Amino acid sequence: MTTNILITGASRGIGAAIAEALTGDTTRVVALSSADGDLSDPAAPERLWQASLDRLDGRIDVLINNAGVFEDNALDASDADWLANWDRTMQVNLTASALLCRRAVLHWRDRKAEGRIVNIASRAAHRGDSPAHWHYAASKAGMVAMTKTIARAYARDGILAFAICPGFTMTGMAEDYLASRGGEALLAEIPLGRVAMPGEVGEMARWCALEAPAAMTGAVLDVNGASYVR
Ligand SMILES: NC(=O)c1ccc[n+]([C@@H]2O[C@H](COP(=O)([O-])OP(=O)(O)OC[C@H]3O[C@@H](n4cnc5c(N)ncnc54)[C@H](OP(=O)(O)O)[C@@H]3O)[C@@H](O)[C@H]2O)c1
Repeated sequence: MTTNILITGASRGIGAAIAEALTGDTTRVVALSSADGDLSDPAAPERLWQASLDRLDGRIDVLINNAGVFEDNALDASDADWLANWDRTMQVNLTASALLCRRAVLHWRDRKAEGRIVNIASRAAHRGDSPAHWHYAASKAGMVAMTKTIARAYARDGILAFAICPGFTMTGMAEDYLASRGGEALLAEIPLGRVAMPGEVGEMARWCALEAPAAMTGAVLDVNGASYVR
């Protein structure tokens, strides 16, 4: 039987690498992007879930929440702007993922089926992030806590949940990417001497989605070149 997989944020970067790693003879992949629906719209996750189900003949086996935004929120922004920025990041990174997880768990529970969730969180969930990114770190920490909760709640039903926490991952042109994240100083913080490549995260997501042993459910996996070891 084919494994039907829904991936958000799959047009580029890590999501595209996950889609590539999961594309094969035994899988059917729906690879979403903002062109399919804007996850900052609270109604979008439900619509996207239904549309994806239709494309996959009514069965989804694996949900991968990868779509995310990393936007600045300056401490001295106006109160209204600061709150709007906070809410937008929470909506896209955490609430939309939660809504999709909920649909997935209900889908599997109703069908008495097994299923897997892979949530792409971030090193920031554990380490925190830069001063303009309280919201980003909080959204990813929320994702990790949600993943553990789902794993504990539904393991007996064969519903497994994993979180992957990438550190810096080369999702743009190398030089631009490094410059935007602090250049050489960034590399000095990474014992491996380089940032992660999207294909490395893609391979981890593929493994969690298709192969990871059931006893591993609830695990939170790091891919950060030992830049934050916990
Ligand atoms: N790159 C890193 O260094 C790094 C580190 C740690 C964690 N992560 C996490 O890994 C995930 C992927 O990151 P990335 O760097 O590969 O991101 P990216 O290159 O910026 O791509 C983001 C993806 O999410 C989609 N997306 C963004 N906003 C959306 C919205 N409002 N509605 C629907 N889709 C939306 C984009 O679709 P469009 O192409 O249509 O805009 C795109 O497919 C994110 O959750 C990110 O937080 C990344």
